[in-house]
Amino acid sequence: MKRFYIIFAVVFIGLAFGYWVNWGVPAVKQPIQFPHKTHIAQGIPCTGCHQRAEKDLVAGRPPTALCLACHASGDSKSAEISKLKAFGDKGQDIPWQRVWRLPSHVFFSHRVHVSNAKLACQSCHGPMETLERPPARPLKTLAMEDCIACHTKSQANAVRKIDMARSGNFSAQRLANDCAGCHR
Ligand code: HEC
Ligand code: HEC
Ligand code: HEC
Ligand code: HEC
Ligand code: HEC
Repeated sequence: MKRFYIIFAVVFIGLAFGYWVNWGVPAVKQPIQFPHKTHIAQGIPCTGCHQRAEKDLVAGRPPTALCLACHASGDSKSAEISKLKAFGDKGQDIPWQRVWRLPSHVFFSHRVHVSNAKLACQSCHGPMETLERPPARPLKTLAMEDCIACHTKSQANAVRKIDMARSGNFSAQRLANDCAGCHR
């Protein structure tokens, strides 16, 4: 019986904490119910739509014209596709809202992580390919200790690699965990 109370307490505290964590984060509502799953199943790579991720600080969203390349023709009965075409007719970008956002005092570059470190998008964004509608909240949050945890691990790997090769370019492998690296 005692064990039951302990399990109950743990579950309850867990739920309460989860609720509290979500409390301050307002759910994002997107203008079009875009399904990632359907599109990734078409074989479009993440960077096919988020084209800036490999060379820029931000990943970006696809221009309306890219969506219309597939959706302009044919008369779909979908209300979502009608909305998409309406933005296209007005020559407008779709006003997508940001879901993942760091405070302005943190510097972050997609290029460094995607092109240099060759990390999968999912390591920071979670399983986007499973979504049938836009995420209302980040699937995965990145607090300061998450950034630092991966940097520490990567640094350990880099040092190990250098140890094995007994050569290598140290400065290229250097991973800043100093405050100024992220707070510029
Ligand atoms: C066909 C184009 C397309 C493809 C392919 C695509 N995305 Fe997206 N992505 C979008 C659009 C449109 C949005 C904005 C609507 C939404 O949030 O679903 C978006 C939003 C996102 C966001 C939320 C950004 C934010 O903070 O608002 C992330 C993260 C993301 N995509 C990651 C990925 C990853 C990872 C992949 C590959 C597994 C991928 N996307 C493939 C079009 C695409
Ligand atoms: C490579 C072709 C391709 C591109 C590019 C593309 N889509 Fe699609 N999209 C599809 C296919 C295929 C389907 C699934 C079949 C269907 O419902 O028409 C689909 C389905 C959808 C749906 C669900 C339709 C429904 O039934 O409600 C939405 C919404 C949508 N796309 C929006 C977008 C948006 C927004 C973009 C640009 C960010 C985009 N698509 C880019 C091919 C594409
Ligand atoms: C190392 C972690 C990490 C990786 C890897 C990563 N992202 Fe991000 N992403 C972030 C963070 C953090 C933000 C919020 C950045 C900010 O607010 O300045 C973000 C924001 C975004 C956004 C919304 C804002 C923008 O930049 O346009 C999109 C879309 C996005 N990421 C897509 C992707 C895609 C696609 C990939 C893979 C090609 C990817 N990300 C890889 C951490 C990552
Ligand atoms: C999953 C692992 C991972 C996560 C999570 C991650 N990073 Fe990184 N980050 C790396 C790696 C690996 C590098 C080194 C890339 C290279 O080889 O240049 C790097 C490099 C950087 C650099 C450049 C350092 C320099 O001076 O060259 C900055 C700044 C940075 N990350 C910020 C962040 C921030 C901010 C976050 C959290 C929002 C974050 N990173 C999350 C793996 C990660
Ligand atoms: C790898 C990147 C990284 C490094 C290194 C880093 N930070 Fe941060 N820091 C972040 C991110 C990301 C946030 C925002 C976290 C969030 O919004 O949850 C943050 C937030 C903060 C905040 C604000 C906390 C708050 O409640 O808003 C302070 C203060 C801070 N960092 C100080 C430091 C100091 C001091 C150091 C050096 C010892 C440091 N940081 C090193 C990424 C980093």
